[in-house]
Amino acid sequence: MKMVLNQIIFKTCLFVLFVFVFVGCYNTGTGEVTWGPAINFKLPAFPETGSHQVMVFSEMHYSPSYRSQEVPRILPPKDSVPVTGAELVSFEIEEIKEWKIPGNVKSDFDIDNAAKIYNYNCAVCHGTDLEGQGPITSILSGRNDGSLAYGPDDGAAPVNLNSERVWELSDGEIFAYITWGGRPGYSSAKRGKDSPAIMPMFKYLLSEEDRWELVEYLRVWHGENR
Ligand code: HEC
Repeated sequence: MKMVLNQIIFKTCLFVLFVFVFVGCYNTGTGEVTWGPAINFKLPAFPETGSHQVMVFSEMHYSPSYRSQEVPRILPPKDSVPVTGAELVSFEIEEIKEWKIPGNVKSDFDIDNAAKIYNYNCAVCHGTDLEGQGPITSILSGRNDGSLAYGPDDGAAPVNLNSERVWELSDGEIFAYITWGGRPGYSSAKRGKDSPAIMPMFKYLLSEEDRWELVEYLRVWHGENR
């Protein structure tokens, strides 16, 4: 008995739907339903694709609820002037040559800290003694002929940082080459291209101050070991 009733209800619904579609009251494209002045569903009564996009926030700080719980930002007093300023970015070599190691980097220079930054970031290629013979230079290439992966033949050998080539550079030039990944990295960045060099762009790995500290580190090393 229940089965028969269910079937009757199901068939009636199907019939009503059929009539709606047939008489043009149910728009199969948009899902809108109209039936005289009484029934008028402008939004799809039966959404076919789901009408709302669900936003999934992958990181917590994108979430509005997280923002609203943050402490209010304290704005700087009116008319204040930034003293540290944003990092200077220039690709004009004449301009870069004029840049000097900032005074505070020189006055606060801590050789042990600078050596740590150098040994963590640079020594693998340029060597702890700066001569360009870091552990990377003993890696063999995949050619199976005893050749080196980062040897001078491929033009990928790390530069000897304690050489005339580098002594003669200005502070700004050394800073720019550390920032963009050597001379090839600098030229590529200037043209808005990716660097072909194996040296990373330290702009994204070390702070501006750390990079200046490295310039001073090279200078002090040159002074002592030249
Ligand atoms: C993955 C290896 C690698 C690492 C790490 C690396 N370098 Fe280099 N570096 C190179 C290579 C290779 C060159 C030469 C690029 C060229 O001219 O083709 C170079 C070039 C340079 C130059 C330019 C020298 C010149 O006269 O052309 C400076 C300065 C320099 N590196 C400093 C650093 C400092 C400081 C660090 C650490 C923050 C560092 N490098 C980390 C591989 C590396």
